[in-house]
Amino acid sequence: MSSVELSVFIRAIGVHTPERTLTNAELSKMVDTSDEWIKTRSGIAERRIAGPGENPSDMGAKAAAKAIARAGLTPADVDLLIVATMTPDVPFPSTACFLQAKLGLRRDIPCFDVSAACSGFVYALQVAKDMMRSGSYRRALVVGAEKLSSVVDWSDRTTCVLFGDGAGAALLETTTEPNVGLLGNLLGADGNNAELLHCAAGGSAAPATADSLRDGKHFLRMNGKEVFRHAVRVMAESCERVLAKCDVKSEQVAWFIPHQANIRILEAVASQLNVGMDRFPSNLERYGNTSAASIPLALEEAWQAGKIKHGDLILIVAFGAGLTWGATLLRWHEPTR
Ligand code: ACO
Repeated sequence: MSSVELSVFIRAIGVHTPERTLTNAELSKMVDTSDEWIKTRSGIAERRIAGPGENPSDMGAKAAAKAIARAGLTPADVDLLIVATMTPDVPFPSTACFLQAKLGLRRDIPCFDVSAACSGFVYALQVAKDMMRSGSYRRALVVGAEKLSSVVDWSDRTTCVLFGDGAGAALLETTTEPNVGLLGNLLGADGNNAELLHCAAGGSAAPATADSLRDGKHFLRMNGKEVFRHAVRVMAESCERVLAKCDVKSEQVAWFIPHQANIRILEAVASQLNVGMDRFPSNLERYGNTSAASIPLALEEAWQAGKIKHGDLILIVAFGAGLTWGATLLRWHEPTR
């Protein structure tokens, strides 16, 4: 156990998205929709779709390999792996175990999944941070990896236009430097609203049967309007509560990196916080909603674009099925390029 107070920061970040792009124009040939409807209601123009055999563990391994390489490290330097996903390769074993094998991580490290849907990356960051601050793990990989295209009902226009596939990975490291990295956090959940966004079959409560397949019970179902309402309220509240907890004003935050669900949700959250959209980077237009992968994808993109500077305060915030939510305030420590 460590006797000094440890901080945990993002030392490097990496992403991977599948090559195949599915445009709104292509979607409008599959269901009764239009590019105009999708763009105005969600801000999405296209999304990436994983190929056959391209699973969350494959995409996550590629994203994680980039983060490890950028840090100038090797897989042997990783002491802990947490994968956030709502579309695991298989119900068991964990996607983390597949990813461990693909990356060639050590065998004496814990590898497990966190299931918190679109809030998964924020949940996993906090779990990693708390484990690392015990002093037992110096470096951790936190990976958000999703293949939403495998659970979307491609005949349901109310959902299939919104989601996409991809992965992002953060390589975390401990330091004795105070007041850097992950500063403050909150996580929450409301299981009473589980049915607003869920998959009805495929688990032990409703194993796969010919009937469940025929009835489309293995697909994601969502009450879009209600999810929208909860998302705006909970994301804005979570930001306010974390800022208050850390005694930071929203004006001091350089960048808000929200889960990329819908541009109108982001606009409503920004407006409730009285923050301009110029501080809410978004890549929804190109990737759609990639669930647990969306925050690392947006973070990496903002960093690659040179927007994020060493010492910047960044507030990441997410909301997802569960319902679940979470927010983390962090002070950026310029990662290795
Ligand atoms: N194309 C054309 N028309 C459509 C489509 C479509 N793809 N989808 C729905 N419509 C129709 C509806 O049938 C409805 O028609 P009606 O008035 O004749 O009944 C009309 O468009 C309006 O539908 P609404 O549901 O009212 O549209 P809304 O403006 O609420 O937008 C949307 C729908 C985009 C789903 C929105 O509610 C939303 O974004 N909700 C949040 C979704 C979300 O972010 N989920 C994920 C969060 S958590 C996680 O990431 C796992």
